[in-house]
Amino acid sequence: MTIGFHTKNGVLHCDGVSLERIARDHGTPTWVYSQALLESRLREFQKAFAKLDPTICYALKANSNQAVIATFAAMGAGADIVSAGELVRALSAGVPASKIVFAGVGKTEDEMALALDAGVLQFNVESEPELEALARVAKKRGQVAPVALRVNPDVDAKTHRKITTGKSENKFGVEIAHARKIALAARKLKSVRIEALSTHIGSQITDVSPYRAAFARVAALGKELREAGVPMARLDFGGGLGVVYQNETPPDLGAYARAVHAAIDKTGFGLVLEPGRWLVADAGVLLARVIYVKKGSAKSFAIVDAAMNDLIRPTLYEAWMAIEPLRPRKGAKRVYDVVGPICESGDYLAQARKITPLDAGDLVAVRQAGAYGAVMSSAYNSRPLAPELLVNKGKVAVVRPRQSVESLIGLDRLAPWQRQKPSPYLD
Ligand code: LLP
Repeated sequence: MTIGFHTKNGVLHCDGVSLERIARDHGTPTWVYSQALLESRLREFQKAFAKLDPTICYALKANSNQAVIATFAAMGAGADIVSAGELVRALSAGVPASKIVFAGVGKTEDEMALALDAGVLQFNVESEPELEALARVAKKRGQVAPVALRVNPDVDAKTHRKITTGKSENKFGVEIAHARKIALAARKLKSVRIEALSTHIGSQITDVSPYRAAFARVAALGKELREAGVPMARLDFGGGLGVVYQNETPPDLGAYARAVHAAIDKTGFGLVLEPGRWLVADAGVLLARVIYVKKGSAKSFAIVDAAMNDLIRPTLYEAWMAIEPLRPRKGAKRVYDVVGPICESGDYLAQARKITPLDAGDLVAVRQAGAYGAVMSSAYNSRPLAPELLVNKGKVAVVRPRQSVESLIGLDRLAPWQRQKPSPYLD
């Protein structure tokens, strides 16, 4: 059986299940994930790095549904987390604490305490004040916090400006010279142990050369610090490998693995990797239904029932994401803006897109929506969060039900001084 998303009898399917049927059974907008494709991606990734025996810490931020994390955890993956919420998500889905790395520039002391108690593999520390805070929290608890100092290698990852992280003007990590000083000075601290270096230069990277440059710089610093008596055990090279949305040509896994090998081989360092998008993007779609087609003089608008609150990537990053009718109509392609019902001109999923003719009632799939899709959605315009479904071997499971309007509004309270009148619309 073909895994992932494929056309059968003229209709788009997921792992052999018709997406038309899924839309009929579960409504739209709806996220659909292929478990087989998730598994196959992780397996490929594990194979490409097998010789280095890395800890592969899936970057939860890309898609943190429990079912997705559990799929990877069952195959031995760890997790890259950036908040207490993600820590709980990882642990609940069965990721052992010993395979969790805690990244992020703004960890609070409460979050540090929680992660120390859980026993995470390492804290990816991004500044001196953060290191001091971690030392304080660990000391108070009589613990020694394992630290990977995050280095900002000042390399241009050549990706969208909002997702590049390894340039000195970005808020992430510490510059190499500064990292050296911090690591040497930290030898005195009893409650933190700098035992690794980490780096992450950006996301949706499509060129291998920035990786090579960054990895070489970090590995050189690792060796230097080890010689100076810092107990360096491993390097964490982050994530960032790009996928194909339109016509990008990201390095294949082999080329990426060679860049990692070139920096790690013969150093004796262990390896941590934090892939996110590459593991999940292709394994998900967002299903939507066309509500109206509005023909203007300049162009036509296909107004669909998914919007920027569901999928914000096109608006936020000018991201191009493929939109495919589930059952393409015959006839020449036409040009559409595919837009949602939200009251903002920025509410679009695609602009000036050539698609086979669309009509009201048609179903479409936004492709490569498994990464940074559902996790970035909001309930703007009081649009409840769309459900997430996992398909596996012909079965479909709801892994997050559609949010109800009641549960959305039910979080609000009137202030005590406002007239309290029970709503006939809410329980
Ligand atoms: N590690 C760290 C420290 C990160 O900051 C990130 C992503 C990753 C790993 C995973 O990177 P990936 O392999 O997924 O590229 N919302 C944006 C992407 C933001 C990425 C943030 N950091 C988007 O939709 O394109």
